[in-house]
Amino acid sequence: MHFFSSLLLAASIVASAHARALETRQSPSVSSWMSAEEPIARSSIFRNIGSSGEFAKDADAGAVIASPSTDSPNYYYQWVRDEAITFKYLLNQYINGNSSLEPLLKQYVSESDKLQRTTNPSGSYQGAGIGEPKFNVDGTAFTGSWGRPQTDGPAIRATVLTKFATMLLDAGETSYVTTYLYDGQLPSNSVIKNDLEYVSHYWTTNGFDLWEEVSGQHFFNYMVQQRALTEGAELATRLGDTGAATYYNQQAAAIKAALPNFWSSSYGYLISTIGTSRDGLDCGTLLGVLHGNGARGFGVYEASSDEALVTLQAMVNSMTPLYSINSASGSPGVAIGRYPADVYNGVGTSQGNPWFICTFTVAELLYTAINQFAAAGQITVTSTTLSFFQQFLSSVTAGTYSSNSNTYATIVAGLKNYADSFIAVGQLHAANNGSLSEEFQRSSGYMVGARDLTWSYGSFLTTKAARDGATAF
Ligand code: NOJ
Ligand code: NOJ
Repeated sequence: MHFFSSLLLAASIVASAHARALETRQSPSVSSWMSAEEPIARSSIFRNIGSSGEFAKDADAGAVIASPSTDSPNYYYQWVRDEAITFKYLLNQYINGNSSLEPLLKQYVSESDKLQRTTNPSGSYQGAGIGEPKFNVDGTAFTGSWGRPQTDGPAIRATVLTKFATMLLDAGETSYVTTYLYDGQLPSNSVIKNDLEYVSHYWTTNGFDLWEEVSGQHFFNYMVQQRALTEGAELATRLGDTGAATYYNQQAAAIKAALPNFWSSSYGYLISTIGTSRDGLDCGTLLGVLHGNGARGFGVYEASSDEALVTLQAMVNSMTPLYSINSASGSPGVAIGRYPADVYNGVGTSQGNPWFICTFTVAELLYTAINQFAAAGQITVTSTTLSFFQQFLSSVTAGTYSSNSNTYATIVAGLKNYADSFIAVGQLHAANNGSLSEEFQRSSGYMVGARDLTWSYGSFLTTKAARDGATAF
């Protein structure tokens, strides 16, 4: 037998072993896997934070490495987006009472200030340099060619630090906040204000998408930008910077007014990007729904909205036939990648693979929708979502179902099982020791791409929180 055919045979044996394992997996085992994975994911995040983290000794204090992998691929850098998403998780822990994280959060403030002041290929301080997506672990500029600028990172960072600032203000730490976080001056010497100035002035300019591949106008970016500016305006008001508050609110309103341009009535789902070849289904859209709303909600495409739910289903439908592990799965949950035409294989380019982040994000969005239905005390089924909800109750018709009805209970139970079945896919392909890389191979299911990806762990943890009923802030 040729080496290549034996490889294929081996791969199909592995795939069917995986399929058998999945068939026997039920919700309780999803619960227990998630409980076991939680402390592993948490400590894996800390391993990737400088300078005390085991894998990040050479990194600045408060810098988050994307992965310890230094070649094939080299992810030993700090990305503004990944770092902000990581600290968003940690800030959630702080909000939930873990006050021991305060020094680390302040190190993140200092590192963010350092990165902002570092002149880089996107530009310099108090200007276009804030849009630089990636820095060396010691905070120096990465000068190689890259998809730059990226306008989402500063917005997510502003969201995290604005919440931190309001908590510090509540605790009486006014001078720390007005010195390092929000000084109300122009030009500013504080982190949040620089991010907000950047976002409010640059959101209309083209930037690269969160996957760093195409330049254009992106749903994910608009979602996180409108949120950051709305929250930032509240902080500006609280600190007496009322002119800025007005401007940030105006820009947030303009972004919100532009968001419906991403709804394609002909496709029947939200598209990811306007103005480039990449215009379709994308995991980034689901991430935008979550990161652009958080627990509070900003009234735009929340997880429980018709548009979010049908986009999620369209994404699942397009991913199902794409990867051969999905035909073996025998469960409604399937492996989900970044977008259908992806060719990045985790190291170079050939064929794209499913990602842990994207597979978990489908579940996180569904759990978040359940939490929102519970808070509203009802589910409304419309002509747009009818076939989506009929998956869980074939006889359901358009209408509003109160949380004390059988219809509501059946739909919510179905949604929960559906969400769990995506977790089961991640569970199946995770390493036995709980480690998570970036991707898993589309036909063998084995983990590929950057090992111990910080964002994979973060995505798992916020998904678990949503399953437990607590949407991230
Ligand atoms: C690295 C980027 O981070 C990734 O998103 C992209 O797909 C690959 N380069 C291939 O261009
Ligand atoms: C590639 C991903 O496409 C991008 O979103 C991420 O920021 C970097 N890897 C680092 O994890």
